[in-house]
Amino acid sequence: MAKKKVLNRRVYLNSDNKLEPIEVTIEGEELTESDSEQETDETSQESNIQKILLKPVGYPIRLSEQASAQSDLEIDDYNLFQAYAQDQWVGLIVAVDEYLFDQMILPDFAFKIIKIIPESSRRVTVETEFEIVPSVDSQLKSMEKVGFADIIGNSRAIEKCKIIQEFMLHPEKFGRWSPKNVLFFGFPGTGKTLTARALASECGSQILVRKGTELIGLHVGDGANKIHTLFDKARKIVKKSGSAIIFIDEIDAIGLSRSYQSVRGDVIEVSTALLSEMDGLSENSGIITIAATNNIDLLDPGLRSRFEEEIDFELPDNSERVQMMQLFLSQIDVPYEISYQEVSNHLDGWSGRDIKEKLIKIAFHNVVLSKIEKITTHHLLEIIRNVRKKQDEGNAIFS
Ligand SMILES: Nc1ncnc2c1ncn2[C@@H]1O[C@H](COP(=O)(O)OP(=O)(O)OP(=O)(O)O)[C@@H](O)[C@H]1O
Ligand SMILES: [Mg+2]
Repeated sequence: MAKKKVLNRRVYLNSDNKLEPIEVTIEGEELTESDSEQETDETSQESNIQKILLKPVGYPIRLSEQASAQSDLEIDDYNLFQAYAQDQWVGLIVAVDEYLFDQMILPDFAFKIIKIIPESSRRVTVETEFEIVPSVDSQLKSMEKVGFADIIGNSRAIEKCKIIQEFMLHPEKFGRWSPKNVLFFGFPGTGKTLTARALASECGSQILVRKGTELIGLHVGDGANKIHTLFDKARKIVKKSGSAIIFIDEIDAIGLSRSYQSVRGDVIEVSTALLSEMDGLSENSGIITIAATNNIDLLDPGLRSRFEEEIDFELPDNSERVQMMQLFLSQIDVPYEISYQEVSNHLDGWSGRDIKEKLIKIAFHNVVLSKIEKITTHHLLEIIRNVRKKQDEGNAIFS
């Protein structure tokens, strides 16, 4: 019977705080001493691995509080990690796509084996070198890739992002004139988060993205700690790459004006920590903070004053609305025949998100449900009429 090879190298901490070998079972059977020896003999032919490339993939069980830090792992001393890894894994017979489990600092934290050199080797020895693939910020991984070409309008924001991008590539060009802190503000659904995502796609591992609400802690001190940890992480990126971006989306959740902080006591420590980090001059050089909000009037004026530029995201004008319809329709695979100008004339006050979600998506769903064969001007105007009717009914209830 082909058994999965597991050597008796696993250990656990007993009640006296001593490391003890764990009982190893194979397919429900207990592995006896002789089984273990026999297995070793069977596999002694396996050749030795020179190098293993590991990817930290997080715990097999999800801890909700650490959700965003799931597979976020940092190693300060690679020689130390080498010794630590060997201590746990020497002797194991492994293959690509299998997992190695940590037994000590983070019990059961899994590392997926991405690559083995040479490819045919299977055995981990004291000679095996361990390498960790660099982690991309966990928030970024969940983001769909977008580029600046996917943004309609918002030209000042795009220009500023391109300056920031240039700074990331050539910080030496800027000297004391580097971009620093930028605030995106404006109506909901006008592309603030989208623009940050486009910048993130360009900057990869040099950008850290957080939502304001994620930075509020459960207990006193948690929130301030999260801010300091975030900036610590950015400082490490600066050390390695020369610059880093922190993007805080929906910053109004933590940067409330002081008069509101009496209602939300839990955010005071977060905004105080943020202010002190943004003021941390020399040690934070190379860090650019971008924040976004659709509620700029709620922001603490002290915090607002830390931003060198406030960029207003406006609702799209007539020609931008046409471009948006064209862009969104190009992303779906259904037939359409539309007089864009005629439809756009009825979309005054609609944001990019409204056009995408309330108009094009509904039309697309109607084609999927075979309610219509193709998207036409008439059909879009009907959807717009329905949306307006619902809005009027909603307003009537509250007036
Ligand atoms: N200027 C734009 N160009 C292209 N697409 C846009 C634009 N504005 C909005 N959209 C579309 O609407 C979606 C929602 O926009 P986004 O989340 O960036 O808005 P936001 O300004 O961050 O809103 P909020 O203030 O509510 O967070 C985008 O993912 C995109 O598909
Ligand atoms: Mg947003």
